[in-house]
Amino acid sequence: MRPYGGTSRAGACTCGWIGESPRPVSWYYRNWIRPLLFLQDSERVHNRTLQGLAWMSASRELCSAMAGWFNTPGLPVEAFGLRFPNPVGLAAGMDKGAVAVPAWESMGFGFSELGGVTRHGQSGNPEPRMFRAPAEEALLNRMGFNNPGADILAERLARWHARGRWPSHPVGVNLGKSKVTPLGEAASDYAYSFRKLWGLADFFVVNVSSPNTPNLRQLQDKSALDEILAALQEVNAAEQRMAGGGARLKPILVKVAPDLTWDALDDVVSLVAPRGLAGLVATNTTIARPPTEDPVARWVYRETGGLSGRPVRERSTEVIRHLYRQTAGRVPIIGVGGISTVDDAWEKVLAGATLLQVYSGLVYEGPSLPSALVTGLRERLAGAAWSEVVGSGAGVTKN
Ligand SMILES: Cc1cc2nc3c(=O)[nH]c(=O)nc-3n(C[C@H](O)[C@H](O)[C@H](O)COP(=O)(O)O)c2cc1C
Repeated sequence: MRPYGGTSRAGACTCGWIGESPRPVSWYYRNWIRPLLFLQDSERVHNRTLQGLAWMSASRELCSAMAGWFNTPGLPVEAFGLRFPNPVGLAAGMDKGAVAVPAWESMGFGFSELGGVTRHGQSGNPEPRMFRAPAEEALLNRMGFNNPGADILAERLARWHARGRWPSHPVGVNLGKSKVTPLGEAASDYAYSFRKLWGLADFFVVNVSSPNTPNLRQLQDKSALDEILAALQEVNAAEQRMAGGGARLKPILVKVAPDLTWDALDDVVSLVAPRGLAGLVATNTTIARPPTEDPVARWVYRETGGLSGRPVRERSTEVIRHLYRQTAGRVPIIGVGGISTVDDAWEKVLAGATLLQVYSGLVYEGPSLPSALVTGLRERLAGAAWSEVVGSGAGVTKN
């Protein structure tokens, strides 16, 4: 076991793949599909891919063919009262409008996080607003929460349920604040979306860490966040009462920015117990711009927005480790930021992530990434229990 070993990345023209397992799908993706996709505008490719997945999602047969193709092995994990078939999930932002809900499970993800959704539908920032820096395996975005709004999202989720197409893996919803809502009214904005979507998803993530809504990140401030969480837990209790019949409270997690100081992260941690948080998600994109020699990356990094992919990997892992230590390993952490190899995933698990998510890695490695990560993680585990390995590199003695 190499606790914080370097990454083993397949070269662009070898048929190697992440970790040690050869995965020919990735070779085709990297060498044939990706170069063609990267000739086109990033957001356009994203939208076309989603359209394709939405089309596939309408068909049970296509979804089961896709699941058979990726053939993701099981690696069950339990966290905040939910059972995950494997710990690798889809990160927020990929399917903001819940258009391809069944496809993510067929692709091999152990859970998916839909949204970010806001109370009011909004078109987001003007285009272009999503950029690639391929040499750094990075994305930069300033989407600005383009999404259909909580009402329409609720209708779509209800439709997937009604059609019997709801995935068997846990589905979360990422909650953001509408741009038109003043910061002082943020709590009621979040609460509206939560109430609307309460019965339709398995867990909820409070996103106060996106850099693309003006001043949103100020809501990570202790008293502002406390107000939002208090409002959400009130809705949670009321909805649970109304649902009756042994309904459980929905797990609520908070997603943090990688740019927070240790003290600011500790402020968030201090709300976990009093506000009954189920977990933390670390991290969102960064406003930092690490040094780069690559001219394209330099050009991209001048754009306003949040950076994801490889440049955020290390900081995200540091934040996970810090949160794990500060919570003594008692609070489940979803680790996200720069995962594109088994090494990347493993270092986050050792740092304290019980669950993982990917976004940029999917763009750079293609759709077989979840299956390859799960396969690699199983190999690394070598029969050990997941719970034993989580946080084992964080320097905390669990009791
Ligand atoms: C285009 C794009 C849109 C995103 N939208 C959201 C969002 O709506 N809510 C959120 O919490 N995170 C959002 N994220 C952040 C990702 O969920 C993730 O935290 C971040 O990209 C780091 O992971 P990665 O390096 O695997 O991409 C977005 C990321 C990208 C690239």
